[in-house]
Amino acid sequence: MERNDVITADNLTKRFGDFTAVDAISFSVRRGEIFGFLGANGAGKSTAMRMLCGLSVPTSGHASVAGCDVARESEKVKRHIGYMSQRFSLYNDMTVRQNIALFAGIYGLSSSQIKERCRELAETLAFEKEFDMPVAVLPLGQQQKLSFAVATIHSPEVVFLDEPTGGVDPLTRRQFWEMIYKAADEGTTVFVTTHYMDEAEYCHRVSIMVDGKIEALGTPGELKAMFNAAGMDEVFRFLARRATRQ
Ligand SMILES: Nc1ncnc2c1ncn2[C@@H]1O[C@H](COP(=O)(O)OP(=O)(O)O)[C@@H](O)[C@H]1O
Ligand SMILES: [Mg+2]
Repeated sequence: MERNDVITADNLTKRFGDFTAVDAISFSVRRGEIFGFLGANGAGKSTAMRMLCGLSVPTSGHASVAGCDVARESEKVKRHIGYMSQRFSLYNDMTVRQNIALFAGIYGLSSSQIKERCRELAETLAFEKEFDMPVAVLPLGQQQKLSFAVATIHSPEVVFLDEPTGGVDPLTRRQFWEMIYKAADEGTTVFVTTHYMDEAEYCHRVSIMVDGKIEALGTPGELKAMFNAAGMDEVFRFLARRATRQ
């Protein structure tokens, strides 16, 4: 492991019974990188991410995140990361402000820090007038932005985003990516799954997972050159057509 690697996976594997969801994946992510974790539905992205977050125990292999072994030090891993799950993590019946305060409190921010963060977020999220409304009334894109904001409210070393822009319109996706860039600028390493190939181009490096295995890894430029493709969608189609999983 190099000093600048903040995530490393070494033959990381997860089996459910005799089905291998994640099949001996190895890779590393450098500090400050925006790393795209691509793959079709069922490829194994969420399962891999849950292991990296210390939420699921690997069947075999190893991984470390922020210097902690994800199997032996799963509680310690959680102190260094933020996690935005694919299924929603906000409380829909609570207001925006209450959600922010709740998550900030869980992560140990003081009440004055929470007030300050609410002020900042009102500006970045640009929907201050909705802050005292229940989350359920917000459009999906705003809910996703709020989810991201609470996942990074404690300035974690690494944030894991599981299809954060799924189902969101292109303009809101663009704004979402501006939030990702801002977090990266402030020093947070970003590990993000997506199946939108335009978003793959926004990442420093990407891996492409097919049926539990990592089939390609590199910068979008390197992968396009390697597969002689005009866009990442072409690279993806070329690799994904070998997939047998639905
Ligand atoms: N708890 C589980 N038990 C059994 N199979 C699972 C479980 N979680 C995921 N899987 C299977 O593992 C494969 C990968 O799932 P997942 O990691 O959610 O893929 P992705 O996030 O890439 O869509 C799928 O075939 C899924 O059905
Ligand atoms: Mg998933």
